[in-house]
Order: sequence, then structure tokens, then C-alpha cells
Amino acid sequence: MVSVALYQPDIPQNAGAVLRLAACLDVPVAIIGPCGFLLDDRRLRRVGMDYLRCVALSRHASWPAFLAARPPNGRLVLLTTAANRAYTDFRFAAGDCLLFGRESAGVPDAVHAAADARLAVPMAPGLRSLNVATAAALVLGEALRQTGGFPRQLPAEGAA
Ligand SMILES: C[S@@+](CC[C@H](N)C(=O)[O-])C[C@H]1O[C@@H](n2cnc3c(N)ncnc32)[C@H](O)[C@@H]1O
Repeated sequence: MVSVALYQPDIPQNAGAVLRLAACLDVPVAIIGPCGFLLDDRRLRRVGMDYLRCVALSRHASWPAFLAARPPNGRLVLLTTAANRAYTDFRFAAGDCLLFGRESAGVPDAVHAAADARLAVPMAPGLRSLNVATAAALVLGEALRQTGGFPRQLPAEGAA
């Protein structure tokens, strides 16, 4: 199964949006600390709403703690504006962990070095970055499309 990891997120509203996305798409999320807010932060809860209780969430105090808890197989796929490979040119696999950097600073060199692949969402020239939750929606959507990982439930034809 594809999963999402947030490296030291620093904007609770964005974390709430990613958690809601993951709840709706039935994808586990890891939050890698230290993290400047708590899960009961009202800004996070306002965005994540009652979806938060549906997320398979793990929290890790540090990057080494996250690495130690990871399953032995499964790739770490880092999303970074510094990559020169588009996410649409990548063959995703079940077991991939999509790792997103912090809003203020991305990820440090050690995290870049640990990644099995580094991918970017191509952007218009001169623009810096997407909102992390927007980047997550794009890339997670493509990873689930490729791996057949979208939840299967759709309303019956004609249902309101
Ligand atoms: C606001 S951006 C941080 C920008 C930061 N200056 C950097 O270099 O990563 C927060 C996170 O969203 C993701 N992100 C945003 N735009 C992206 C893009 N065009 N391609 C890949 N990841 C992106 C990355 O994981 C990034 O670390």
C-alpha cells in the first residue's frame, strides 16, 4: 500500500488537509517530528474535521525514529522542488512511501540522501513551490492511479 510521510510539518492547517486527504483515500500517514504543533491543535482540527479519526496515523519523534520503524522493503520517494524528474515519469509501486518536506525549509541533505527517488511536480518558470497539501494530492493521486490503490467504493449509478 502507498503511504504518506510529512517531515517536520510546521503549518497545522496543511497537516490537517493532508490528513483529510489520506483519510478519504484510505492511505496511512506518518508524521515525523519534531513537530511544532499537536494533533489536537484547533487549526489542524478545523481543516481535518472529523476525518482525523479515520486516518491510520503514526507519529515519530525524529527522522532516525521514523527510519527505524519503517518496514525493510518499500521505497522512500521524496517530493522536492530540487528534483529533476517529474512525478508523472515515475513508476510507483505498492509499498512506496511519499515523503513531503516542511513548508519552511523542505528537508535536510541527510533526508535527500536517504531517498530512493526524488521527484518534482513541474511548475511554471519562476514560481517557488506548491502548497504541500496540493503537492500531496497530485502525487498521491498519480501513485494510487498507477498502483490501483484508490478505494473501490463509488455510489451506484443514479444514486443522489
Ligand atoms: C512549501 S514546499 C517547501 C519548499 C521548500 N523551499 C523546498 O525546497 O522544499 C513544502 C513541500 O511541498 C512539496 N512540494 C511543493 N511543491 C513541490 C513541487 N513542485 N514538486 C515537488 N514537491 C513539492 C515538497 O515536499 C516540499 O518540501
